[in-house]
Amino acid sequence: MSITIRTATLADVDALAALNRAAYPDLVQDGVVFDAGQMRGHQLRFPAGQLVAELDGQIVGAIATMIPPRALDPLAPHTWMGITDAGSFERHDAGGDTLYLADIYVHQRAWGSGVGRALYAALFALCRKLGLANVVGGGRLYDYVDAEASIAPATYVAQVIRGERRDRVLQSQLRAGFEVRGLLPGYLHDGRSRHVATLIVWDNPDRVTVTAGVRAIEARVRL
Ligand SMILES: CC(C)(COP(=O)(O)OP(=O)(O)OC[C@H]1O[C@@H](n2cnc3c(N)ncnc32)[C@H](O)[C@@H]1OP(=O)(O)O)[C@@H](O)C(=O)NCCC(=O)NCCS
Repeated sequence: MSITIRTATLADVDALAALNRAAYPDLVQDGVVFDAGQMRGHQLRFPAGQLVAELDGQIVGAIATMIPPRALDPLAPHTWMGITDAGSFERHDAGGDTLYLADIYVHQRAWGSGVGRALYAALFALCRKLGLANVVGGGRLYDYVDAEASIAPATYVAQVIRGERRDRVLQSQLRAGFEVRGLLPGYLHDGRSRHVATLIVWDNPDRVTVTAGVRAIEARVRL
């Protein structure tokens, strides 16, 4: 099986809209599934940030990203609707410093084939290529719906991180290299996650090194 990641084109939009609907059967009525018009808008605003995954020549997955406006701190509490402007990416800011993962989805029949892993790798490569500080997103707690009702979201997340519990989405993100920096209650109206998301962050190692180097120089100067 061969996986290819490429930039999306306008010719992909109908296939991607169908794939996006299929990936979120339980979220369609809440208006958080992209329609074809929104996807065209994403490509016009930020073409480099829209990636498509093909498995043996068939489109099976995608990533949609944007750069939040500089005035907004993407590490502060936020909702998906707020930060993405209801999925329109209207305030995409080419001068910002964070690549925001607004969506990643793979068709269920291709789950577990490494497509997600390839998409996350391409996402981090894009962050490095653009010289941005980090990738930030709100991750679904996909299997929280099956956990005992008494388990708090923080306990659930800690158990997945320790490998004591499985979560299809969170595990794929930890495996890719994301860190959980907090929880975002009410991030998305998503019954599976009981409406709580993880604040996931991947720091661009190129930028971390530069910043650490600058701090070391500053410390030496102070001495
Ligand atoms: C999250 C998603 C994109 C992952 O895609 P995927 O193609 O299945 O991911 P991969 O095959 O690359 O698997 C990545 C990792 O997930 C984990 N994983 C695989 N199968 C799993 C399972 N049954 N349960 C838990 N974790 C599993 C593994 O850690 C795997 O890493 P490995 O292959 O090195 O062992 C996909 O499940 C999806 O589209 N889900 C629905 C949409 C969604 O909720 N998106 C997330 C928005 S925040």
